[in-house]
Formats: sequence, structure tokens, C-alpha cells
Amino acid sequence: MNLQYQTGFGNEFATEALPGALPVGRNSPQRCAYGLYAEQFSGTAFTAPRHANRRSWLYRIRPAAVHGRFAPVDGGLITSRFEEVPTMPDRLRWDPLPIPEPSTRSVDFLEGLLTIGGNGAPALQTGCAIHWYVANRSMQDRFFYDADGELLIVPQIGELRLATELGILEVAPAEIAVIPRGLRFRVELMNGPARGYVCENFGAMLRLPDLGPIGANGLANPRDFQAPVAWYEDREGDFELCAKFLGRLWSAHIDHSPLDVVAWHGNNAPYKYDLRRFNTMGSISYDHPDPSIFLVLQAPSATPGVGDVDFVLFPPRWLAMQDTFRPPWFHRNVASEFMGLIEGVYDAKAAGFAPGGASLHNCMSGHGPDAATFERAIDADTSRPEHIANTLAFMFETRTAIRPTRAALELPQLQADYAECWQGLRKRFDPTRREA
Ligand SMILES: [Fe+2]
Repeated sequence: MNLQYQTGFGNEFATEALPGALPVGRNSPQRCAYGLYAEQFSGTAFTAPRHANRRSWLYRIRPAAVHGRFAPVDGGLITSRFEEVPTMPDRLRWDPLPIPEPSTRSVDFLEGLLTIGGNGAPALQTGCAIHWYVANRSMQDRFFYDADGELLIVPQIGELRLATELGILEVAPAEIAVIPRGLRFRVELMNGPARGYVCENFGAMLRLPDLGPIGANGLANPRDFQAPVAWYEDREGDFELCAKFLGRLWSAHIDHSPLDVVAWHGNNAPYKYDLRRFNTMGSISYDHPDPSIFLVLQAPSATPGVGDVDFVLFPPRWLAMQDTFRPPWFHRNVASEFMGLIEGVYDAKAAGFAPGGASLHNCMSGHGPDAATFERAIDADTSRPEHIANTLAFMFETRTAIRPTRAALELPQLQADYAECWQGLRKRFDPTRREA
């Protein structure tokens, strides 16, 4: 299907799947066209400042209120409890999770979620959870919404069709999608098994960062964000509505598809973005800018300039800095860093960080290039630019430490020898030899 999208970030969109379904001049008319119900879907407090205020008006076959009573269900490996085990300051790295064969274990997107770690709490609307997903079948006859947070989905294998209340997004590896808190949706697989990463953002909604001296353009440009157009299904049957609420998974019976919004307008909507459209900036003289230059989206905290969660991209790019150590430098940060690799090779590591894998470097844990990368970089010719072509890595960078779950620490994919990659950084100091 060739999908239509509306472009822009946080725009006031207006879309209808039937002509005249959107009321004109009022949000909640006495009677809506086609016998629809009007419903407001808020993403921020009613009184949030205008520039940050998000809400949409939905015109739907049945209100979202029409469903059975919720009962708690086994959430599998999804959790929002991050104190199951003591959090160690060690640097951690995982090989990719295998996608199960359908004959051995059939999993949809929701069943295939595994929480790697997180911080904060849904009840406080601050912090985030970081998940992996693996799936080998589409969600069938069930729908999901997450009251705890907004979902930033980063596919690594397999294209997803996200059928949401506000329309359909098709998202392939090298693209991302963001599903607002509370939006009901179903995940279908378009071309076989799927794997990827999810950041569940408990705090303020992700938004584009300010650009400061960069100017009016650059990094992720607003026109490259795509929201769906109105689409609905009028289906009745024996369906399940799953909710994640205060860290637990709940299930209720629903006798119709909740994806029944015929028209909507507003700025609280899901969206997708092609990471290949990121306008990458960097030094053209010497040294590295800080990786904040790669910021795609930021969930602001209450402290000005500090993100609760930053989504950072390391895309293909030219390195032109002369007489400079070109790979990411050695560092320790107050922030904590979860990294994933969508495709290719990450330029700070010679081996061990595979596409689909992950690493975690928590607050003040020293890290940087491995020994092999260091040796290569100090001998590199920096008189000419170098194109880093085969890479697409990202980071969920958080303000507070990311606490791994017990399940993540017990995975056989956790690399016991990760810290060995720095052990080869031999002592080079010689007080008698001043020249570099
Ligand atoms: Fe780092």
C-alpha cells in the first residue's frame, strides 16, 4: 500500500477519511457527521504553554470508553521496576537477541518486548525504560496502549506496519516511529521477522532540540517528520485491549476495533522519521564537537537545557578534522548512555558491537575506543577527510543512571569479557620522550 503522510513536526494537522467528517468551526458539535463521537486526546496538561501544548480531537465510531474491565496479565519480560538487582558501574555490552523461529516460539511485538533497563518511574512521569523487541508474527485481534509513556521505536530488522487510531505508519530499519502516550495501536510485520529497540519515555514528550548558533536549519529538519492521515476500520469481534499502566500489563475485552477514528485534527499524533535525512554537522577544523551535535529528539526535564532522554544518532558522515584523534574520545559523563547499532560498524569499536546489539555506559563509567581502534587512529593520515559510510548507530542518553533488569543481566547475550577491549591500552608514557 502506498501510504499518504502529512509532513511537519508537532503541526496542527487536519485529516478525514470520509468527506465532511471533520466538523468546521467547533471541536465538539452537538451532533457529529456520520453519527461519529467527538473525543479529545490530550498529550500535555491543559494549561501547558501554547508552544508545548499537545492535543488532538478525534471523531470516531465509538468513544475510547467502550470496553470491558481490565485485569492484570503476565507482562512477560516487560517491567518498570529497576531495583530488582543492584546496579553496577560496569560497562555492559550485549550481542543481538536471536529472533525465535515461529515453530519454537510464536511472538508478536508485545509478547516479544524485553526490558533491558531504565530509570525514573511511570508514576512520577519521569525517566524511561529501554526495551528490545523481537517478533515473528503480527498482533492479531489485540490492541495496545501505553499509559506510562511515549514509545520511540527503532526497527533494526523487518518493516513494521503500525496501525494506530490516527492512521497507519510503515516503518523500516533506518527509520524511527514515535507513538504518543495512550494511543491505541497494533503492530503488523510486513516482510518477515522483526527486531529492534524501544525507548519508553515516561516524562515530557520528545521534541526537536533548539539549534542555537546552528541557525534555522539543520540536524533533523521538521519537514522530514511524517504523521499519518486518518484511516479507520469498522470491525466487530472478540478482541483484546492491552494497556501498560503503572508498570504492569493489563487486559480488557473489547468487542470492536478501537482503530475507528474516521477524522481527526490536532498536534498530538504519531510520527515517523527517516534517519537518513538527518543533516549531520561536525568539525571542519580540529577536535570533535560534543555528541549533542547529533541530537535528533529530546525529552526535556524540568532543568533548562537538560534532557530527561536524548535520542542521538551517529550516521554516515565525513571526518575532516586535522591533527585530531578522530574516533569518539575517551570520556566519562554525568549522563548515562545506552547504545544500539542499526547497521554497519560503530567507529569506536573494532569488534564485538554487532548490528542489533547494545552497550550501556552508565554515569561516570570510563569508556571510549577499544585498543585496536586507538592504535589505528593515532597512525591515521588526518591530512585528508575520511568518509564513515557503513554505520548507523544511536544512543538513548539519559539524565539519570540506567539500571539494568535482572532479565537483561541474565541473558546469555551479555558479554562477560566486554571490559577486556580496553585492557590492551598499554602504558605509553615515557618522561624522557617529549615528541608525540
Ligand atoms: Fe559515551
